[in-house]
Amino acid sequence: MAKLNFGGVEENVVTREEFPLSKAQEVLKNETVAVIGYGVQGPGQALNQRDNGINVIVGQRKNSKTWDKAIADGFVPGETLFEIEEALQRGTIICYLLSDAAQIALWPTVQKYLTPGKALYFSHGFGVTFNEQTGIVPPKEVDVFLVAPKGSGTSLRRMFLQGRGLNSSYAIYQDATGRAFERVIALGIAVGSGYLFETDFKKEVYSDLTGERGTLMGAIQGIFAAQYQVLRERGHSPSEAFNETVEELTQSLMPLVAENGMDWMYANCSTTAQRGALDWWKKFRDATAPVFNELYDSVAAGKESQRSIESNSKTDYREKLEEELKELRESELWQAGKTVRSLRPENQTKKISPVKPAASIKEVFSKLVKQPESTEEKQYLV
Ligand SMILES: NC(=O)c1ccc[n+]([C@@H]2O[C@H](COP(=O)([O-])OP(=O)(O)OC[C@H]3O[C@@H](n4cnc5c(N)ncnc54)[C@H](OP(=O)(O)O)[C@@H]3O)[C@@H](O)[C@H]2O)c1
Repeated sequence: MAKLNFGGVEENVVTREEFPLSKAQEVLKNETVAVIGYGVQGPGQALNQRDNGINVIVGQRKNSKTWDKAIADGFVPGETLFEIEEALQRGTIICYLLSDAAQIALWPTVQKYLTPGKALYFSHGFGVTFNEQTGIVPPKEVDVFLVAPKGSGTSLRRMFLQGRGLNSSYAIYQDATGRAFERVIALGIAVGSGYLFETDFKKEVYSDLTGERGTLMGAIQGIFAAQYQVLRERGHSPSEAFNETVEELTQSLMPLVAENGMDWMYANCSTTAQRGALDWWKKFRDATAPVFNELYDSVAAGKESQRSIESNSKTDYREKLEEELKELRESELWQAGKTVRSLRPENQTKKISPVKPAASIKEVFSKLVKQPESTEEKQYLV
């Protein structure tokens, strides 16, 4: 295992160079990997494993569109696609990839098939970490570990098909066979991970719940909404408020931040932007840190998991969810975003009739979006 230095702190990381696919195939050659659930992670992980030469079967309830999707993806009923119980019985490694709520509901069934020597695999530390709420307490005689890809199942599959890998974290909760490490790493490689970072179940779920409620989705939407609202209240048009809040960030800045880091972005923007961003970032950090602490405390106290389990199990969950999503969808911010997105050059070219002069599109666009500074981007727009 490689020790890599992350900003001065050493961490254990497993790479594909030191644990190649051939080694993963060797470790898993006598295993039947049963992927239970074919939602978002299920397809990505099952298809990548199948393409990597692993003996993989899918367990999915019948009479469901998801069953048909598994067939469409080439899984064959009675050969590589089974009802959940049969897959549980056949599998030596159970990849428990139902939704977190369904994992709780199906646990009594799963438990019956966890005979000594088998392995129970998760892609989230939720069920085991919050076992007082979920009831998921694995028997002592099975290995229990996780591989959590840092992205959706769709990205996992897409990146695999492009010959790339999505980074994942891995953790071992229980090593009953003495083989838990080689099994979990082999699975991590087989599902299409690039690098595998070591963690534990609790840290995985605490950071994940904090991240999605925080900068990945909750905090970012909150900051978008606050800035948009202030700009609108101060007389700016919806398009201007949207462009300065979201569009420039996602279209121009974030791809550069992803490539080079925010430090590079700060070093490579206009001096006016640089001065202001340097002056203001610590104020935003200090204003939001208490909220992040409140959030982490809520995660650690089990309140977030409790809320998620309770709300997901209500009978009117879908209707209530739809109301909340509607509020976001119909907000002026995201309605303005819809129009701005439709005016992006790549979306415009699809709709432009051949007789329409390109200059008019440029005129409309120049009113909405700041003109790019690099020649490369200018060429793109012209
Ligand atoms: N989403 C992601 O990208 C992502 C990323 C990293 C980790 N994870 C973790 O991966 C695991 C799987 O997540 P996911 O998002 O892939 O799950 P998901 O899409 O929500 O899972 C849906 C699957 O669960 C089945 N299911 C739902 N309710 C059921 C029930 N009552 N009985 C039997 N089957 C039921 C569905 O079958 P039907 O279609 O028939 O309802 C489908 O196969 C979770 O632990 C999650 O936290 C997910």
